[in-house]
Amino acid sequence: MYKNLIYLAAAALLAACSGPRSPQEKLTVNDKKIDAIIAQMTLEEKVEMLHSKTNMSSAGVERLGIADMHYADGPFGIREEGVPNGFQSAGWKLDSATYFPTGSALAATWSEELAYKYGTGMGKEARLRGKDVILGPAVNIQRLPVGGRTYEYLSEDPILSAALSLGYTQGVQDQGTAVCIKHFAVNNQETNRGSVDAQVDERTLREIYLKPFERAVVEGGAMSVMPAYNKVNGDYCSENEHLLNEILRGEWGFKGFTVSDWGGTHSTMGAMLHGLNVQMTGSNYLGQPVIDSIATGALTEDLVDEKVRQILRVRFAIEAVPDDVANTIMTSQPECQDIALQVAEKSIVLLKNQAGILPLSKEVKRIAVIGQNAVLKTQSGGMGAGVKALYEVTPLEGIVKRAGSDVEVVYAPGYKNFPGRRWGPAPATPNPLEAAAIDEPADPALLAEAVALAREADVVLFFGGTNKSIETEGSDRTNIDLPVGQNEVVKALYEANPNLVSILISGGPTDLRQLEPVSPAIIQGWWNGTEGGTALAKVLFGDIAPSGKLPFTFPAQLEDSPAFAMGNFPDKNAGGDLFTLMYRQDRTQMTREQIAEMMAKMPKPVSKYTEGALVGYRWFDTKNVKPMYAFGHGLSYVDFQYGVLKASADKKGVKVSFDITNNGKMDADEVVQLYVHRLDATVEWPYKELKAFQRVSLQAGETKTVTLEVPVDDLRYWNVDKNAWDLEHGKLEILVGAASDDIRQKAGVAI
Ligand code: BGC
Repeated sequence: MYKNLIYLAAAALLAACSGPRSPQEKLTVNDKKIDAIIAQMTLEEKVEMLHSKTNMSSAGVERLGIADMHYADGPFGIREEGVPNGFQSAGWKLDSATYFPTGSALAATWSEELAYKYGTGMGKEARLRGKDVILGPAVNIQRLPVGGRTYEYLSEDPILSAALSLGYTQGVQDQGTAVCIKHFAVNNQETNRGSVDAQVDERTLREIYLKPFERAVVEGGAMSVMPAYNKVNGDYCSENEHLLNEILRGEWGFKGFTVSDWGGTHSTMGAMLHGLNVQMTGSNYLGQPVIDSIATGALTEDLVDEKVRQILRVRFAIEAVPDDVANTIMTSQPECQDIALQVAEKSIVLLKNQAGILPLSKEVKRIAVIGQNAVLKTQSGGMGAGVKALYEVTPLEGIVKRAGSDVEVVYAPGYKNFPGRRWGPAPATPNPLEAAAIDEPADPALLAEAVALAREADVVLFFGGTNKSIETEGSDRTNIDLPVGQNEVVKALYEANPNLVSILISGGPTDLRQLEPVSPAIIQGWWNGTEGGTALAKVLFGDIAPSGKLPFTFPAQLEDSPAFAMGNFPDKNAGGDLFTLMYRQDRTQMTREQIAEMMAKMPKPVSKYTEGALVGYRWFDTKNVKPMYAFGHGLSYVDFQYGVLKASADKKGVKVSFDITNNGKMDADEVVQLYVHRLDATVEWPYKELKAFQRVSLQAGETKTVTLEVPVDDLRYWNVDKNAWDLEHGKLEILVGAASDDIRQKAGVAI
């Protein structure tokens, strides 16, 4: 009997050892079955799987019971159903989804747990729509304050981005939907995004730009990856041997499949040999030319089999939703709307609060809400990341509802909205609330109306910022100035009534040099999803304490930020983004081939990353440049007291613990941040780097002990001589605080 037990235990141990170990290896469990299927497929059937079937699907093999793969944008909500061959609306009724806070808002929560929940919400709604793969999360590092997709991306810091990218990935995939993590890699600008060559050194690539992808792939088991439009060090990402074959598949052990960004495949041989599985969209490279190349012997069918196997691994891991089950109920579900609310509540950043003007006092009986950003919806626009939301609570709606019948809320638009690039002929009667240019000065009539309301109010809430035409995929901003005369408006409002709070509704940073002196309080309110207005009202009225922290630096002026200060951006060859045109034959009357031909004639732009690892706060700290608001900054309605650090280091890494107390009268969260400064380094490092963080919830008066751990791997640097991760031994100063410029406690350790 004992003998049997021993045999059983040994067998179990053996099974455990030989079974799949890493999240990526789990994808290979069906490889035998998959190979049997591949053996039954014709070459034509296999090649059909290597390119788009419709604008948002790639083919399975009906004959063998293999379902098509259905994709859905985007990172912040399951995108409205489009017509089969384009992005135009299919006019469905049940495809309104939950609009989740956009990337920088999610990042401002500094919460891997919330990123996970967010992912579960996205994954759940994808299933309801019959989608297998979500084209997200979008996790590139925010290199440029002007970046058109800064709002889609998470943070300027790799450790923060990587934690959120991991949480999001696991959340989605735990719901039985695959992520397609994008845009791999170094996709940090929209200017010439279809052709720019990002020239970045290997150390910076590894330590900064690849980190958020690495964790999602290695720890999160991300099942698919979207190579970006741009080139990295000379090669397009969709045919980049170093990125796709050496790093992604070789070093990180990726077992799933890659899908080019839409229109981002550039050749048959490049894509086939250097790591692409699926051309999206079109078949001019990964269709008939593959069959022809096999006929001539330039490619082998084995290579096609390998690519099909990688796709089928995901097809087997993700159960296809039957046609009669998908799209039978509304995509947006209450539990997901609730997740959107939870994220929004924790994302709002209180940048400034002089004389405790916030939360609004009970004495406030009349509120003047000024600025169109209080009423304009933010769900759509921005191209791929737009959402047809089931509903969206605007800031004004949230405030009116929360204020109740005791408090009068009056509203004036204050300024004209800049609607961005127009397609087609101008409307016969121009909208009087729309500006013709982004830098149009304030409209005197709108200004006078707003000032009159401000004068008679107890408090003025000024809503400024940008919109999703100004910050959008396809183009970068030319500056970060507040648009359409907003500075003029806020100054006039302050003169009329200095009891003023400015709330910025934008995805990226703006230049606050004029707004700051006339705003006793400032909030960064983001594009905060379906329940954004509800969450904002809760913060304004003090139902909850604000607890978001900036995931990127607000430079005082654009020229202070690294790529600008180094003269690396904008590049001299800047031109238009033709991808924007590619799918709009209805509007451009040009074929894709004609557009590709135009592209080929365009100058070949380059983006040099000579600022190296000094991205965001790493630059501001190292170069001693004072930003307007630092990375990690965010105030609360309470004070937190940080106790003395107990720090130790061993082979596994660094461990720090300390007490933190909420000294205030309400419950509140604090995001504690741990930075590492090297004291005796011989290798070059930024002045300090974020290495750990934690969101801590504390009741009024409560003290908790917090423990932060930095795994030794996060202390390594990429040694270019060894072409490997390496550890520099020496003394570290551990800096713990509430922001990158608000360090409360220090300790020393040696590694
Ligand atoms: C964007 C991707 C998006 C794809 C499909 C591209 O233009 O860069 O992020 O997923 O379109 O909509």
